[in-house]
Amino acid sequence: MIRRFFLVTVLLAVLGFSNAACRKERPEPPAEGSPDEKASATKALTVGFSQVGAESAWRTAETKSIKSEAQRRGVNLKFSDAQGRQENQIKSIKNFIAQEVDVIVLAPVVETGWEPVLKEAKASGIPVILVDRGIEVSDDSLYATLIASDFVEEGRMAARWLVEMTGGKVNIVELQGTVGSAPAIDRKRGFAEISDQFPDMKIIKSQSGEFTRAKGKEVMEAFIKSEGGNIQAVYAHNDDMALGAIQALDDAGMNPGRGVLVISIDGVRGAFEAMVAGKLNATVECNPLFGPITFDTIDKLLAGDTVPKKIVNRDRLYDQSEAAQVIDSRKY
Ligand code: AHR
Repeated sequence: MIRRFFLVTVLLAVLGFSNAACRKERPEPPAEGSPDEKASATKALTVGFSQVGAESAWRTAETKSIKSEAQRRGVNLKFSDAQGRQENQIKSIKNFIAQEVDVIVLAPVVETGWEPVLKEAKASGIPVILVDRGIEVSDDSLYATLIASDFVEEGRMAARWLVEMTGGKVNIVELQGTVGSAPAIDRKRGFAEISDQFPDMKIIKSQSGEFTRAKGKEVMEAFIKSEGGNIQAVYAHNDDMALGAIQALDDAGMNPGRGVLVISIDGVRGAFEAMVAGKLNATVECNPLFGPITFDTIDKLLAGDTVPKKIVNRDRLYDQSEAAQVIDSRKY
């Protein structure tokens, strides 16, 4: 590990780190055998990770994956939980810059408002890797790469499944994710791309459930109050909100999974349990196990290898027909 780190340090200096604007000014490597050389060889890589929060089982799985992979590789991980607030993420990025971390990993709560702080990171030569959610910036050199699922396609997959089940004739209530977040925007857009092709596939109510089970239940209760028996399907932007909605439907005696179709996104264990119980009809998997790919990408970046601007995780849909067979092999 020590040797690898020293080799990487030397390699970086030799390569001259071509994209200078995006990297720290690193000192010349110390002379072989000098006390400085011994000190630098024992310095582990330091990575700052600014996480959205812990709003869902998916998010918890993502945090666990990144923390355990950092530990496995001997990376010094500075973890910061923003509790769903962008201002906390901005503060933690500024802290990471002040602490001169080697790389910043950011899972951004919302899409916009990142330019000033990312310019600071760039000016300090600290590369930023976006994980799981994209951002809107006019200058994409402000981040090195985005590793994420295709949220638009996830929305399309959910809508296509609903078309198959209903022939495109269905009244839907939609539970959106966090307002302004990439998955909420893109999952809505992808779903609408398909549903707009079917005049009788109608979203009769749509509101944010903030990606949480409690809010999903609360919003679903309000939908039931105003729409009652008109509701034929629930499209939730994540499993936690779907599980909250299922509870509300159960409480109202509306038979989720049979009387009302329920489809969501994430593929967490709770969703598989609900499918086995017949209450959730389908979930589109969105893999949260970012640890290995994130640190592989950091290694490549620091070794001066070319890293694509976007690395896309491939997702698929699971429904009740295979839930029981695969539930025991699920990793999150
Ligand atoms: O960005 C991914 C989304 O964020 C997940 O679907 C959701 O559960 C989460 O909180």
